[in-house]
Amino acid sequence: MKNSKLVLVSLLVAVAFFATASLATARPIVIKFSHVVAENTPKGQMANKFKQLVDERLDGKVVVEVFPNSQLFGDKKVLEAMILGDVQIACPSLSKFKKYTKSLQLFDLPFLFKDMAAAERFQQGPIGQKLLTSLESKGLIGLGYLHNGMKQLSASEPLRVPADAADKKFRIMSSDVLAAQFQAVGAMPLKKPFSEVFTLLQTKAIDGQENTWSNIYSKKFFEVQPYITESDHGLLDYILVTSAEFWNGLPDDIRVEVKKALDEAVLLGNKVAAEKASSDRQKIIDSGRSEVIQLTDAERQQWVEKMKPVWKKFEKQVGKEYIEAAVAANK
Ligand code: LMR
Repeated sequence: MKNSKLVLVSLLVAVAFFATASLATARPIVIKFSHVVAENTPKGQMANKFKQLVDERLDGKVVVEVFPNSQLFGDKKVLEAMILGDVQIACPSLSKFKKYTKSLQLFDLPFLFKDMAAAERFQQGPIGQKLLTSLESKGLIGLGYLHNGMKQLSASEPLRVPADAADKKFRIMSSDVLAAQFQAVGAMPLKKPFSEVFTLLQTKAIDGQENTWSNIYSKKFFEVQPYITESDHGLLDYILVTSAEFWNGLPDDIRVEVKKALDEAVLLGNKVAAEKASSDRQKIIDSGRSEVIQLTDAERQQWVEKMKPVWKKFEKQVGKEYIEAAVAANK
């Protein structure tokens, strides 16, 4: 009797153990993807597409949770959180890596790429691909680039020539190159998180900002900025980033599938970026809330002349050969 009780208890313990163990092995890998923009943007669409592809293909083994609109982290905190394992994928703009590498500052140099095709050629070329590895000493892996587009200048007053920007306050991303770019025209740059820009503009705490058409449209900056100068003066693109610890810890077959899904989602994101550069611009014009100012060649040349000397200032930090390779991509 005593023995049969013992057998029963042992059996129950064994069942409980195996049930727990199988639950543990069936637990999916969770990928938290944190970003700061709206869902209806190149990055927002890219992230959602990535989730959809993983859902379709990985049979519940991997679960992607997308957090848009700075819901989980802003861009200042997200990389620290990634190193701590609190988020697995992010896609900050190239302007936000100053703490981690100096080389990516290249992409902020004003008037560097003549158009998005040149940026794409450079990113996919040998130097662009090498730059993806520039975060590795910090425990981060660059998985690829994603486009948003060319930046425009929005303001409370019309900006036609650099003198119009003098003494005005502009919100910038956390980049010293962008600070120097605005100082070059006598303006006052302020590094602020993306999530604060609308309120800063609405309350007139600042006079203007620089961003792409899709960000100006999706975050409604155009509703509180009566003038947008179509300057195309710089690039706002992204790096898809993950932590080495997370990435290298994935089972090989899963890592391959996740990377494939990311690459395919980027193709969609880039397509959305190209479309939105014209459709969101048009929606802003159609709204009548903001006047889009086209520069004459002579006016644009004035911005180039004032801003381009910034290159020299950052040449040592960025690397002359990288700047030359970027310029060569303009053909
Ligand atoms: C910004 O802060 O203006 C951009 O980096 C936002 C974004 O991610 O496009």
